[in-house]
Amino acid sequence: MQKEYFQEIFNNVLSAMVLINNKGEITYINNEFCKLFGYNSKESVGRVLSELISPDSDGKEVKENIERIKNGEQILKEVVRQSKNGDLIELVVIGSPIIIKGKHVASSVVFSDMTERKENQIKLEKANRELKEATSRLIHTERITALGELTSSIAHELNQPLNNMKIVCQDILRDVAKDRLDVETIPESIEDMEEQINKMARIIDHMRIFTRRLDSTMNMEKMDINDPVKNMFLLIGEQLRMKNIITVKNLNDGLPKIWGSSIGLEQIFTNILINARHALEEGECRDKKIEIESFMNGENEVSVSIRNNGGLIPMEIKERIFEPFFTTKEPGKGTGLGLSISKKIIEEHNGRIEIEDEGDWTKFIVTLPALTEKEEK
Ligand SMILES: Nc1ncnc2c1ncn2[C@@H]1O[C@H](COP(=O)(O)OP(=O)(O)OP(=O)(O)O)[C@@H](O)[C@H]1O
Ligand SMILES: [Mg+2]
Repeated sequence: MQKEYFQEIFNNVLSAMVLINNKGEITYINNEFCKLFGYNSKESVGRVLSELISPDSDGKEVKENIERIKNGEQILKEVVRQSKNGDLIELVVIGSPIIIKGKHVASSVVFSDMTERKENQIKLEKANRELKEATSRLIHTERITALGELTSSIAHELNQPLNNMKIVCQDILRDVAKDRLDVETIPESIEDMEEQINKMARIIDHMRIFTRRLDSTMNMEKMDINDPVKNMFLLIGEQLRMKNIITVKNLNDGLPKIWGSSIGLEQIFTNILINARHALEEGECRDKKIEIESFMNGENEVSVSIRNNGGLIPMEIKERIFEPFFTTKEPGKGTGLGLSISKKIIEEHNGRIEIEDEGDWTKFIVTLPALTEKEEK
């Protein structure tokens, strides 16, 4: 009864198993062993394992393993074995001595098939690569959408230095016409223009970087977390002024550096800022404000918070805010990708994003690990 009971258990184990007696002969094989190697009980029992499954003719390695188990050792190895029809199989083998009252009575050997696991691993790696590629495309699309939003403010930003230059040119031309040009003031006028040109170059340069496609691995570097915040204002500052939104920046200059992608971070802050702008446009609030702060969070983290006084986000929306394609905007207005992509980028920085309510204010806080003094060098 007990023997049958154990045989039943043995047979139903999902790995191939074989029992070997003290003389090295097979005394029992289970169903999985038959399936894996193609031998039935009749063909195996009483024979030596090395003759059945060794890929090499002398069976030396299998014999050595069995000998080691007999001497009380437990073995765990990745091996290649051969089935009855000559197929080679990659396996993990676990061999254990069965010792009763201090005496070795038998050896058990368990095989688990690696082929399927390897195939699954390859499939998984492929899926991972595809996912990374798709994410990279999404991040890119999202950034282009954000850029579309910024086009009007960029035009405005460029217009301002262009106008300033026009005025300087007109002044010079007028003075020349009236024959009262003071040559000594010319270098100053040219410097003025150069400054305006530099300003425009910076804006254009920045647009180029902003639209460049990120690799699926981002370009990470040691950086000041305030930089992407400042860069963002280069593109979006004017837009906020045009919408009568007052922005207050409290950037702490003494923060430790972080390890990050300046474009990635700028994209996050821009998303949050554009969301804040939308919230203020939708809301009834007259005195529209956005406040941005950078600060030390405890001893090992730095944070940037962006808050607006456009009212609080209802709980049922807050719960879904980071889901891809979740948006409360009219069709065609929002893709619902802003925050989900932001969250993904932040996680790639080993950071986190949180939302807090403060009276009428909705606050988004991005927190990243700070570099230690040693790492900063
Ligand atoms: N500061 C905020 N105040 C109020 N609601 C917000 C705020 N930020 C985000 N939300 C809500 O979260 C939703 C999702 O934001 P998300 O940035 O992911 O997508 P979206 O802004 O709708 O579209 P997209 O960013 O792709 O243009 C928004 O539709 C809005 O309802
Ligand atoms: Mg958004």
